[in-house]
Amino acid sequence: MKDALLERIRSREAQVAVVGLGYVGLPLALRFSECGFRVIGIDTDAERVAQLARGETCIARYQNSRIAQAVKRGFRPTMSFAEARNADAILICVPTPLTAQREPDLSHVRAAADALAPQLRAGQLVSLESTTYPGTTEEEIVPRIEKGNLRIGRDCFVCFSPEREDPGNARFPTHAIPKILGGITPQCVEVGLALYGAAIDRVVPVSSTRTAEMVKLLENVHRAVNIGLANEMKIICDRMGIDVHEVIRAAATKPFGFVPYWPGPGLGGHCIPIDPFYLAWKARAYGVHTRFIELAGEINAAMPLWVLGKVADALNARGKSVRGSRILVLGVAYKKNVDDLRESPALELMRLLAEKGARVSFSDPHVPELRWAVHDEVPTRGSELTSEILEKQDLVLIATDHDAFDYALVLKNSRLIVDTRGRYLEPAANVVKA
Ligand SMILES: NC(=O)c1ccc[n+]([C@@H]2O[C@H](COP(=O)([O-])OP(=O)(O)OC[C@H]3O[C@@H](n4cnc5c(N)ncnc54)[C@H](O)[C@@H]3O)[C@@H](O)[C@H]2O)c1
Repeated sequence: MKDALLERIRSREAQVAVVGLGYVGLPLALRFSECGFRVIGIDTDAERVAQLARGETCIARYQNSRIAQAVKRGFRPTMSFAEARNADAILICVPTPLTAQREPDLSHVRAAADALAPQLRAGQLVSLESTTYPGTTEEEIVPRIEKGNLRIGRDCFVCFSPEREDPGNARFPTHAIPKILGGITPQCVEVGLALYGAAIDRVVPVSSTRTAEMVKLLENVHRAVNIGLANEMKIICDRMGIDVHEVIRAAATKPFGFVPYWPGPGLGGHCIPIDPFYLAWKARAYGVHTRFIELAGEINAAMPLWVLGKVADALNARGKSVRGSRILVLGVAYKKNVDDLRESPALELMRLLAEKGARVSFSDPHVPELRWAVHDEVPTRGSELTSEILEKQDLVLIATDHDAFDYALVLKNSRLIVDTRGRYLEPAANVVKA
């Protein structure tokens, strides 16, 4: 089985099925298609499948032309899990969010695995890519495959290979980001290395799927904890009248032993605010309390309220209250130069400001319109960024510092700016850092 599968991968006869065509699955599917594999994409979102089948993108940064070319080469999005039967490799890239109680929600992984299970046959590789706690591949994927009397490592092959996509970062396209790979058996690793090695410049094998799962969590916990530290330093610097961004920029000139992380209005995106809690939850089952993770979570989650306080203070210093003030929020995406709104602290800020009675609007070149209202009083349509609109505001809040904004225009025409991203390096009478 293994040799036949390796040969199909080597000759590019192998068909790759990517399950979940989102921020992670879509670029992966495109990459395998560009590397000469026949690729299908399975997704439960009918609108997304139809859009991609027409050669149109569902994620702004992947151009229509790249998708249309993949469709021409045979890339076929579908809602039918039955099609997975013909696939040689099945890569699962479905969401792994938190429940309302902030515990791991594996419902998408389980639903995808349940739907795939009846389609699995000998000679296939199944690889889970969704970020999750150590043990998920062994606990959720392996038993479903073994139920079908397939022997892992002989009949079929199972890996965990976490995605490391960095949305908006043009320096690292999919193929240039080394991929971690853990397998259930050495044979699984061999097949996984062959498949991913055909599309990714460097694949780094580790000793087990649990190790691979933990690698991804360490990477994200590392970011969350360091951003938490940067946010705590921001509060300390603010009290002491020191510019934290100047401090970090200067510290970053040290050529060893220091990595800069930047403070902000809070954590956003699918990964950093969520993934550390996958580990915290699993660690509890082992009697370990993850203090760094919880503390960083506490500090980072408090940031929108801290920024709200800075906005209120800045208005107060000019004899105004939050209630009734016109506040324009610049940037609603969770990070610069992307259109992704997931967990965005800007949305939380808009809601908090509106609750306090501010007249809130927003401007974001990547998000012209919100698909849902953050608050009854906040328009879902974004504003243009013109001198006339800026002049009408009591305060402009920089929540996300997209490069597309004209910061000189904002500085010149705004009465008061609260800058949560350290965009303005030089002190100015109308700029308050937060
Ligand atoms: N977005 C990132 O930058 C990023 C980076 C690294 C890792 N990850 C991880 O990758 C995984 C996927 O994240 P994403 O950002 O691509 O999510 P996403 O929401 O952009 O896309 C997920 C896709 O899966 C589909 N889907 C949901 N349930 C399904 C099911 N049962 N069967 C088939 N399709 C299903 C959805 O319709 C959607 O199209 C998550 O575990 C995430 O933590 C994300």
